[in-house]
Formats: sequence, structure tokens, C-alpha cells
Amino acid sequence: MIRRKGNLIKMDTPHTSLVLKAEGDGAELLYYGKTVRFGPDFSLLSGEDKRLLFSSYGSVDFRESGLVVLLSDGSAATRFSFVRVRRMEKPSALPLPASYGEADTVCLEFADEYAKLRLYLYYSVFSDCDAIAVNVQLTNAGKKPVRIRKISSLQLDLIGEGYSLVTFDGSWGAERTRHETPVNGTLVCNESRTGSSSPFHNPFVMLERKGEVYGFNLVYSGNHRETAEGNNRRQLRFLSGIGGLFEWTLEAGETFTAPEAVMTFGENRDEVTSSMQTFAAEHIVRGRWQKRVRPVLVNNWEGTYFAFDRERILTIAKASAEAGAELFVLDDGWFGHRDDDTSSLGDWTDYAEKTGGLASLADEIRALGLKFGIWMEPEMISEDSELYAKHPEFAMRPMRREPARMRNQLMLNLADKQVQNYVVRAVSNIIASTKAAYVKWDYNRHITDPYGKGVAAGEYAHRYILGLYAVLQRLTEKFPLVLFESCASGGGRFDPGMLAFMPQTWTSDNTDARERLTIQEGTAYAYPTISMGAHVSASPNYQSGNRTPLETRFNVACGGVLGYEMDISRLDDREKEIVKAQIAYYKKYRELFQFGRYYRLEEKDGTGGFVFVSADQTKAIAVVTAKEKVTGQANARYRLKGLNPQYDYIVKPREQSNYASCEEFTAAGDMLMQGGVPTDLFCDTENDTNSVYARMLFLRRAPARR
Ligand code: GLA
Repeated sequence: MIRRKGNLIKMDTPHTSLVLKAEGDGAELLYYGKTVRFGPDFSLLSGEDKRLLFSSYGSVDFRESGLVVLLSDGSAATRFSFVRVRRMEKPSALPLPASYGEADTVCLEFADEYAKLRLYLYYSVFSDCDAIAVNVQLTNAGKKPVRIRKISSLQLDLIGEGYSLVTFDGSWGAERTRHETPVNGTLVCNESRTGSSSPFHNPFVMLERKGEVYGFNLVYSGNHRETAEGNNRRQLRFLSGIGGLFEWTLEAGETFTAPEAVMTFGENRDEVTSSMQTFAAEHIVRGRWQKRVRPVLVNNWEGTYFAFDRERILTIAKASAEAGAELFVLDDGWFGHRDDDTSSLGDWTDYAEKTGGLASLADEIRALGLKFGIWMEPEMISEDSELYAKHPEFAMRPMRREPARMRNQLMLNLADKQVQNYVVRAVSNIIASTKAAYVKWDYNRHITDPYGKGVAAGEYAHRYILGLYAVLQRLTEKFPLVLFESCASGGGRFDPGMLAFMPQTWTSDNTDARERLTIQEGTAYAYPTISMGAHVSASPNYQSGNRTPLETRFNVACGGVLGYEMDISRLDDREKEIVKAQIAYYKKYRELFQFGRYYRLEEKDGTGGFVFVSADQTKAIAVVTAKEKVTGQANARYRLKGLNPQYDYIVKPREQSNYASCEEFTAAGDMLMQGGVPTDLFCDTENDTNSVYARMLFLRRAPARR
């Protein structure tokens, strides 16, 4: 809800308020935090140093500014004054993806009369979660072009000390690991320069101190930069927006739209997670699959890598169908003459010697009772390909300079319309000819030689992303029934921009259960668990070499959308039975796993886990985990979350056999949350040799006692 009183504007989400003052020489943030009344004397909050909604270069404020524009007269200082405020519909930020749905929106308009620039800030307030979306547009109302050097999507000025910037960083196989950096008298920066949102630094960050947590994200898949700058005047400035090399020419009459930012406030991290997950699930993910249960899939990648033929695929598919899986995904290696990663990207035609005919293979897989899904990496080109022989100019590379290669491949120049058309055609042909119900859209390298003919270097990375979004828009409109899962060497592009087109993302190539616990927990800080692909793979694990019991692997994979990534035809009979029982169990409680409310269990002494709770709190599934040897954790306890303190719960471990000490028991909701459950109840000293375990507990409300 948004209300005005004179020059004050107050925005309310269910549990937060934001109050600002807009007048004469600008706009000032007075308050952002837990709900407050629209009482008198907000101006008391107006400080000696104003908290600005945006800051432009060239003023007496020498901190990093959110807006830097080079003007045609050679100067670079801009000064905006407030023009007006309007209630309006949420703007459609196309060609960039943005949040959608019921929201109250105001637009604040500012003008720099000298520079002939107009700046528009849109705030959209949602009523079902504590999220505020912010859109920024800059219009050149003059007669000469200007150059935008920087345009932040969001600025939040805070007053106070002792904040830390919490970031989710990593690399291939270790994405979104949480780090905390104190923000004192300096600038702390979280930036991706890879051309994508990257596995190195996710655009989701938090600023926190005790009792106060702000969460921020960007609906964008390209270079991004978040900074928090503190000083000895107790000021803290947070900025988020496009990062990397960026400079954009804004011609007379043109408008630049910055990626949408979203912010939230909570008194603790759980509240921020809940708002961010709801925001993504309700206002970013869209289309047919948004509210549908997701299929249990089997993917052949770790089972076969490139070494498969039709018979092998059908053997795995048959075993998958018998185990109760619903979708079979044919991964890399089915096209061109692709036997390893040195060739064929761009040639999206059947490698018939291997597949024995792709369309008929898909038909045969469907005849087994499975849906058919396929892997593609449409943004790439191999030099050893027919496409490259015919259209070397499609590749992103300055033609006379030796390009940097990653995984032996180059990228396509998606900033070019002709290349976009090629990609749409190629992907469409494969979906149509195989009747694919699912596409895994991979992206296995970063931008190193940003180049497109006629495109300025500083514009390239953003134009690439605009090109990508244009392609995704066309394909998702054309194939509304297809379930798309995005992937980037695992979770290298897990961001709200991709989620706006593809409801799932492959969380990480690292499928080791122990390491997945960290990766999945980091990811779930901001992203709904139903958007996280999570697969059971072979033991010993191919990435880590760790041996982990099949049940532990399953329990961890249930933290996302369940799949299997192995040759399940090669399991022994006992393991096949276990997998069958796992899939049946998952399907039985799939609504709870995929749509239950997620809670993170505090990670202490290496123990933690997660809980999914039904909306009415009568059912819950908890996965309690330990990453270290439980014997080293005397007296540790799991404190559950999200239960109804007034209800009693019957707690039933999923597996009966291997840790017999834990029988079904009944306990009160408040006791389970406040007192906790001793961790050693769950330890199977004989089998938990690998210092990691995950146990699944099913909780249902016990009949009320008289
Ligand atoms: C990437 C993906 C994997 C797999 C391979 C295929 O690494 O993340 O899941 O699809 O590519 O080459």
C-alpha cells in the first residue's frame, strides 16, 4: 500500500514501511524498516546528512555515486531536482525481464534542466511479501547524445555502524557460499565481470547487523556490482546495478531502462529468505510451470558423459521408467559429431550414428512412459563446426585477434539480430522434431572478447544480455508448455533474470551430498527451492571422490527438485529397490517438498538442515544434517522451525533400518522448536563413516489430546 501526506510518501508491505520525502532539490529517505504508523514528526528523521534515493556525480558528496553521465559539453556533473510524484501501473521494463503481479506503484520524477535529463524512479510495493521492486529510467530530453557511465538500479543510504555485507560467492562446483565482510570506513564490493551473473558473486546480497537485515537482488543475468561504503559519519551507502565495463550512449529522445532491483527488510535472515523466495516464486517465475509440481527426472550426463549410443540410453531410460521417474533428459553429445567437448556446438542436428535417429529415440523413450527432455547450449559455437565454417562472423571475436577459449569453445554474438534468429530457429527445430517437454539450456563459458561489429565495447555486455532475453522471450512464448531449466556449468547463472524465463536452474555440477548442503543452503537464501535442480549421483562422487550412502544422497537432493544423474540401470537390485522407494516417497509428498514453506535450520557445529512445512502446519518434512562426525558433537541439538507451537507432532523417520535408535515419537511443536532434538538420535555409527549424514523426518499433527 502506498499513501501520501503532503510531501511525505509512505509505502507499506505486510511487515515493513518505507517513508520518503520528495521536494524541491531532491528526495530523501526517512525510514525503511519494520512497520511504523504514519504518525506525525517523520521530519525528525531528516538528518544532517540526507539519506538520498539516488546520488549523481559531481556534488559535494564524494562517496561512490549511483549515476554518472558524461554530457555533450564535456562536463560530467548532474544535479536533479524533484518534479512530481504519480501513482501508476507498474511499468513494463521490457526488453528486460521484471517482476509482475499485484503491486502498488509510484513514480518519482526528477529533472536536470541544464543537462536536459529526466530521471524516473518507480517503487512497486507487493502485498503478499515484504519486497519492494525498484525500476530506474533515464531519458535524454536534449538534442545531443550523452554517455551513461554508471546507472545504479538501487541506492539505499543507511545510518549506523556495525553492518556486514553478506555475499554468496564461489566458483564452479562451489557456488553461492556465504561470506560476511564488515563494512567500516571503506568500500566493500561484490561484482561480476564475466558477462553473466556468474558463479563467483551472486547478485543477491544482504546488509545486516543484529536485529536488522536488508536483502537485495537484481533481476538481471549480466555483469552486476553491489557496493557498501561506510564512513566515520555513521553513513552507509548501498548501491546495486550493472557492473563490469559499461558505457552507454543515450541519443536525443532515448530512454535507458536499468535492470529491476528488489529490496526487503527483516529482523533476521529467515524473514529475508522468506520474502525473497516468495518474491521470486510469485512475481518472477511465470507461465505454465509456476504452480505445477515438477517431474522427477533422470539425466544421463554423469552416467555416460559423451560415451553413449542408442542402446545405452534406452537401457537407462527403461530402468528410469521402472524406478518411477517421469522425465528422461538426454544430455550433451547427441548432435553434430560431438564425442568430446572440442566440436559441434552450433550444429544442432542429429548425430545419427550415436542416437540411431533422435526423433525416433525420443518416441521410444516416450513409449516407456517417460517424457523426453534434451540438453542444448545455444549461445555457443565450436570452431570445429559446420556453423563456424559457414558463418565465422556469428562468433563473438575480433576477427584478427586470437580469442581466449574456454572449454574449447567460443560464444555466439547474441547482440546481433541475425544470430538471435539463428538460435531461435535451431532451438525451435529441435523442440519441434523431438517433441521435447523439457530443455536444459546450458552456458559453459564466460565472455572474454566482448565484440560485435558496430557495437561499442562499453555497450557490448549489456547488449548481449538484451539479445539473450529477446531470444528467451521468443522461445518461451513459442513453446509455453516446455519446462526450461537453465544451467551454466552448473549454477553459474542462477539469478532472477533467468528465472523469469526458466522456472528451474541446475544448482551446481557438484553433486556431492556434503558439498551440496552448503551450495543448496546458500542458494535457498534468495531462491525458491522449487527452482533448484538437485540430483542423486553415483558414489564415490565424481567431483569429490566421497562415498555417501544412497539414502543420504536422496535426502540432500530432496532439498531441491529431485532428479537422478547416473546410470541407474547399473545399480544392483537392492539399490534399484531403494531408488524406487525413494521416488515413490518423493511423489507422495511432492506438494510438501516443492511448495511447502522452507526454513533453514541453524548451522551449528557442522549440524543443520532444512524443513518444509505445509501452509496449515499440519505436516512437515525435516532433513537434519551433519557435515562433521556426530560423535564430535556431544549434546548438539536440532531446533526445528515453522511448526505450530500449539500442535503436537508425530515424528517418523523415513528410513527404518539403519539407525534403529530413532523410532517414531510424539513431541510438542514448541518443544521441537525451542528445546530441539538431540543429534545423536540420528547417527548410524556403523554406516556414517563419511562424516556427513542427512536424515529425513516426516512430521504430522497428532490428534489433539483431551
Ligand atoms: C555443463 C553442465 C553439466 C553437463 C555438461 C555437458 O557442465 O553443467 O550438467 O550438462 O555441461 O557438457
